[in-house]
Formats: sequence, structure tokens, C-alpha cells
Amino acid sequence: MSVTILVGGQWGDEGKGKVVDLLAESVDMVVRSQGGNNAGHTVVANGREHRFHLIPSGILNPATLCIIGHGVVVDPSAFLQELERHQASGIDTRNLVISERAHMVMPYHPVLDKLGEEMRGDDRLGTTRRGIGPAYEDKVRRIGFRIGDLQKPVFLEKKLRFVLRLKNETLTKLYGAEPFDERAILDEYLGYAERIDPYIRDVYPIIQGALTEGRRILLEGAQGVMLDIDLGTYPYVTSSAPTAGGACTGSGIPPSRITRTVGVFKAYATRVGYGPFPTELDDALGESIRTIGDEFGTTTGRARRIGWFDAAAGRYAVSSNGIDSMVLTKVDVLDNLDAIRICTGYESKGELWDHPMANISHLKHCEPVYEDFPGWQTSTREARRYEDLPAACRAYVERVGELCGATVDVVSVGPDREHTLVRRLPL
Ligand code: IMP
Repeated sequence: MSVTILVGGQWGDEGKGKVVDLLAESVDMVVRSQGGNNAGHTVVANGREHRFHLIPSGILNPATLCIIGHGVVVDPSAFLQELERHQASGIDTRNLVISERAHMVMPYHPVLDKLGEEMRGDDRLGTTRRGIGPAYEDKVRRIGFRIGDLQKPVFLEKKLRFVLRLKNETLTKLYGAEPFDERAILDEYLGYAERIDPYIRDVYPIIQGALTEGRRILLEGAQGVMLDIDLGTYPYVTSSAPTAGGACTGSGIPPSRITRTVGVFKAYATRVGYGPFPTELDDALGESIRTIGDEFGTTTGRARRIGWFDAAAGRYAVSSNGIDSMVLTKVDVLDNLDAIRICTGYESKGELWDHPMANISHLKHCEPVYEDFPGWQTSTREARRYEDLPAACRAYVERVGELCGATVDVVSVGPDREHTLVRRLPL
């Protein structure tokens, strides 16, 4: 038996989809544990590009059971569009299951997300505007709708009457926006119900059965540790827990059954949306890394902010999640640089910090402390084994692991499966 958690070690977009795709071949089940269609993974398999938002990228392997766990918030319309897109490209989706306990994004959630952002003005968070925050707010407020509610039309109608009163009050009185119509929502969601029904399950017995039978399970996190609602750069975070702990609560797998926690990190840092980003390269070099690394969001198309690898944040992610194995992606993007930096800590108000401070204003204005490395200035794309990498590149990779406190077991030097250099399969 093995239960592996895969978390994003930075601000999301670390290339987790590619790693899930790599590991899915060796596992029986992939469970997505949190987030919603704010996430976006691009996986290139056999020369074809596949985009994932809600459906685990493990679906590319027809033998893998893919579960959307109860910690995820599912926009049924986005789910069905994604499902149909994958089916149209020939992917077998029969092995896909959604937990009846997963909450739904309702039509008023994206509207409230957008209006809330506009009202914040200069303090806006830069959300994906997919309604993810408002959906989690309602879950915690205990007025959320769950996927299983699609199978209970009478309950759905009764509850919607009550919830919509609250929502329309906020929409019209606070924001001066149009109210939502109960009948229209019901018709829309009952229409989805029929199409989603075959995928809805009580996943508790499925997951417990897999644990009892000693199956190999992979828990797929979305976003990253620095966007975690508790550990991240609050309030510039997402509304769920993209951490190892979140993977347990979002799937129902107990921490005592976890056998390995893998952290995926990019060889440099990126962030979308607002919030402190100490190593940011707001200059021509950042622009060039953005172009070479094609750093534009899979979900919103927004240009990602670029920075040097932040090992102070990396160490914080490794130690607070128990990451025992690191994957370093997009190393090839640094191939042309003559010098590369790694941030090892921050100087703030005359103090040296070895981890990100909670005070967001201090984190915003701190001075990163750097270690400098010579670039390798050779293409790494042709490397097929770790040993094929130039010595300067290996020195950089190994120093990243050393500073973060875990070994780098996999290095990725390009988008394809053949560009993945596995030193040790992290399962
Ligand atoms: P939300 O999750 O849409 O509420 O957005 C909150 C913050 O998380 C914003 O800064 C988003 O850009 C960021 N975010 C959400 N999902 C992702 C992701 O999958 N990758 C990177 N950033 C994300």
C-alpha cells in the first residue's frame, strides 16, 4: 500500500499536472482534494496538450480511478464542459467519480467574487473570479449546496428559496446588482443533475476499500502552500487548504496512512494575482523568463509574476507539510542565464528571517538575502538522465534541495514525458 500526497510548494502553477501524469501510471487511484476550477494544469502526453481544471489529470491513464473529493468545490457547468472536451479528444472518462459531499459553485458565486473584488478596489486579491471564495464561504456558513443535492430536487428547491433570499439581498442592497431567479437556477442545475448523476458516489467506501486492499493512492493538491488559507500570504491566498493536511481532510484519508509527501516546485518562482512576492523580478530579466517559460495562466491567461527561487518559503513549505521528496520543474527555462540566484532568507527591520513572516506588509517590504550561482548556459532539453545535466545545473538543483531540507528526486527539463528525469520515483 502507498498513499502519496502531492502538494504545490510555491504559489501554484508548479507543474503538478505533469507529475500526477507521471505517477498515475504507478497508482490505482488519484484523488483531488481541494480547490475548484480556479486551478489549471496543462499536461503534454504523446505530443498532445491536455488542459485540466477540475478533473484529475490521472484520467489520461484509463486504468486509474479518479475521484473528485469532498474538499473540492465543483462548478457543474465547468465540470461538464471539461468532461465533454476530454471525451471529444478521445479520453476515457468512465473511471471518474465525484464525491456526493463536494460542494457546488452556484451561479451567484462568480458574480459575488467579481463584485467583491471590485469593491476592494486597490486592495483586491486578484482572484480567478471563478466564484471559489464565495463557494467556500457558503460551505463554512452552512448554506452551501453539495453535489449530492442534485439528486434531491425537493430539498434543493426548498433550500434554494432560503439561500437565494440571502444572496439576492446582498446582490441588490450591497452591490446594486441584479437578483437571481430561483426557477432559472433550478432548471439549470436540474439539467446538470441528469448528466452528472452517473459520476456521483459516496466515496467513503471506495477510499476505505482501497486502503484496506492495500491499493496505491495519489492525493492531488491544487494551488500551492503559499496560497494556503492559513499558511499562505493571507489575505492574498485562495480559500482552501492546498497543504498535506488539506489533502487528508479533503479526501477523508487519515494522516496516519500517508506514506510519502511530494512537493512540486518550479526552478524559479511565479505568482498570479496580488500579494507579497519577495524575490519578484519586475524587470527585463523577469520578462524574458516569463516569455521563455510561457508563464501565462492556464485558467485566466493572466501574465504570471516572476521571481528567483525562494528557499526560505520553500523550507517553510517542506517543513510544515512534511515534504520528503521534491520535484523541480522547468529547469530548462534557466538554461540561457549567466547567473542565477536563490533567496535564503529575508532582512526586515534589521532582523534576519529564515521563513516568511505573517506580517504581510513586512513581507512586502523585506529585502531578500541571496546566494549566487553561475548559470550553465547549455540546453538541458536533451538530457534523459539526471547525470546528463551540466555540473552547474546539478549543483543548483542540489543546493535547492539542501536549502529546502528535502531531496530533489525528479527534475523536469521540458513539457513532454521524456523530459522528466527521475532519480527516484517518489512513491
Ligand atoms: P481564488 O482561488 O480564485 O479565490 O484566487 C485567490 C488567489 O489564488 C489569487 O491570487 C489567484 O490568482 C490564486 N490562484 C487560485 N488558483 C490558482 C492556481 O491554480 N494557480 C495559481 N494561482 C492560483
